[in-house]
Amino acid sequence: MRLNIPLTGAEELRLVGEVLESGYLTQGPRAAEFERLIAARTGSAEAFAVSSATTGLHLALHAAGVKPGDEVVIPDFSFPATANVVVQQGATPVFVDIDINTFNLDPALLEAAITSRTTAIMPVHAFGLTADMDPINEIAMRHGIPVIEDAACALGATYHGREAGTLSLAGVFSFHPRKIITTAEGGMVTTSDEALADRMRVLRSHGSVRGSHFMSFIDAGYNYRLSDVHAAIGIAQMARLDEILRRRREVAAEYDAVLSGMDGVRVPAVPAGLQHSYQSYVVLLDEDIDRNRIIDIMKGDDVEVTLGTYSMHLQPYFRERFGIPDESLPAATRAHQSALTIPLYPQLTSVDVEQVASTLASAIASVRSGRR
Ligand SMILES: Cc1ncc(COP(=O)(O)O)c(C=O)c1O
Repeated sequence: MRLNIPLTGAEELRLVGEVLESGYLTQGPRAAEFERLIAARTGSAEAFAVSSATTGLHLALHAAGVKPGDEVVIPDFSFPATANVVVQQGATPVFVDIDINTFNLDPALLEAAITSRTTAIMPVHAFGLTADMDPINEIAMRHGIPVIEDAACALGATYHGREAGTLSLAGVFSFHPRKIITTAEGGMVTTSDEALADRMRVLRSHGSVRGSHFMSFIDAGYNYRLSDVHAAIGIAQMARLDEILRRRREVAAEYDAVLSGMDGVRVPAVPAGLQHSYQSYVVLLDEDIDRNRIIDIMKGDDVEVTLGTYSMHLQPYFRERFGIPDESLPAATRAHQSALTIPLYPQLTSVDVEQVASTLASAIASVRSGRR
């Protein structure tokens, strides 16, 4: 059983075919349509289709004014693209520990991480659960620092009735095949801030603006555009979004029921008022269970599982550059070692859920008894 299988079909193929036949392949009418769909869905004034969430995060940081020498506060537990874009902007990532219950940035630790050089805070909505944005925004506002959501996993997640990607200055979604919807590779930046939108429009496409005859280049911008070929897939995916979210939440509820109370396993917590998108279903294993052995055993039993995500300070690049001791980031370090992502996608059946649960239970029993 695979960890994830994207839900695509005939409509994706048809729309891609139309783009290929049109002869207009790069960013054009399809990307604009996809942007309108995401803006309407999230309630953002603007949406910018980009080539990935990574380029979207970089674009948003640059447009928000982060510059070399600055500091950007991020949670330590995320896919390392979250920190890489900070480095690419010449700034320093400042890692804050997470709340082990939600895997999200712990707002109680945020203020201590802010210095006179902090020019952005970038919380991550881990696995599709929104970070605790009210206290984060309150602290950020008091210090006059913009907040950008790494909402890569969180399309369709809500925080007290508000959509992920609209909870701060800007939000960035990913459409990598392991995300809620896919365009193969792709991303989207949402914002309702006009000035930020104007800067992103220019920076996304070579720093150019339209002149009377030719383009005029007013900044050293990027090519971070999403092609119409990819956008066509995204348009077809948007028609499936409600069904995808409904099925992901149904499968997650089935997992909650069969895994709650299982020896050695803690199911994902969802604080009141929040709706998880369940990009990944991530359990936390007891500390004494060797998570990597569980992964090997389950793979041997034909169930693909993997780690949760990365404690970034543990990665060689960040370790060598910053040398942050594990004791200062204990929850992220523990999550790095003990979190386990199990298969979750819309096509998963109740029989599959039972199989994953029983395979996990027997893997834990084996590891605990030292049998395998
Ligand atoms: C939290 C987070 N941020 C950023 C990214 C990067 O997304 P992309 O692959 O679209 O660049 C990912 C992808 O795994 C992610 O999980």
